[in-house]
Amino acid sequence: MLRSYDEVAEAIRKMVIRGAPAIGVAAAMGIALGASQSVGTSVADLDDDLQYICDVMSKTRPTAVNLFWAIERMRATFQKNKQLNDVEKVKKTLVDEALAIFEEDIAANRAIGKHGEPLIPDNATVLTHCNAGALATAGDYGTALGVIRGARDAGKKVAVIADETRPFLQGLRLTAWELAKDDIPVTVITDNMAGHVMKGGKVDAVVVGADRIAANGDTANKIGTYGLAVLAAHHGLPLVVVAPTSTLDPSLATGEAIPIEERDGAEVSTRFAARNPAFDVTPADLVAAIVTEQGIHRAPYGASLPRETAAAR
Ligand code: MRU
Repeated sequence: MLRSYDEVAEAIRKMVIRGAPAIGVAAAMGIALGASQSVGTSVADLDDDLQYICDVMSKTRPTAVNLFWAIERMRATFQKNKQLNDVEKVKKTLVDEALAIFEEDIAANRAIGKHGEPLIPDNATVLTHCNAGALATAGDYGTALGVIRGARDAGKKVAVIADETRPFLQGLRLTAWELAKDDIPVTVITDNMAGHVMKGGKVDAVVVGADRIAANGDTANKIGTYGLAVLAAHHGLPLVVVAPTSTLDPSLATGEAIPIEERDGAEVSTRFAARNPAFDVTPADLVAAIVTEQGIHRAPYGASLPRETAAAR
């Protein structure tokens, strides 16, 4: 149990809570918790505390834009309600907003599953990377795994190949665990087996989540996704990106400007100097479709993605 905003921030930083949508929801909850625990007696005091809390939250992880989106929503909620001029009432609006963000994420994942499932043929084998499932979101559905669950719920047979996802092993530890628990057939491979498995004709589609999608559709996702996208293109397989609208970042024209988290090399090797970029950027021209709670986007993404964000915000 997390009992303060700084415990929530620490849980995000240490990846106890991870996955872009879950990070956004947890940050909103953490901010609401911190605001509720503020001992300030005026709305101005609460404003000071809120700014500090949001600042701490914003320094936890840099790549998943859902974090900054959630912080912005909490800030905007305060701005909208500060004229209530009653600290307890303003605190309540912040708690309500965090709960709304939580509920919206659950609904978004369900809608994503419905929109995306037509992309999965019956009897398909889908390769996925990292964990974009229930454990990366609110609720029990997920984003990329939400599309797979949507196909299952539509009566299709789907099998999953899960990359183990070096170095943090989200595919092995989280994706395989949650699919097995749901009785969805899952086979784990090491990341370097993907090309061989695709060449053997064992994959029908690659379906992944996202941590930040630029206005043109360039997509930051867990390190290794870019390599998978190149392999998928070579083998004529569609690479489908699945994410809620909160993962869209229309402020960035292309993926060039997406900040890539560089984690401690010790997660890769404690014996040798090691690089550990946690994400990479897949260029939009390697992305066959982007599924959100609004529907399926196809290239060119530059017009439809920013329109969707504008409508949602
Ligand atoms: O570093 P993590 O575990 O927070 O990584 C984020 C992810 O879970 C993946 O990149 C995922 O595919 C997108 S978030 C559903």
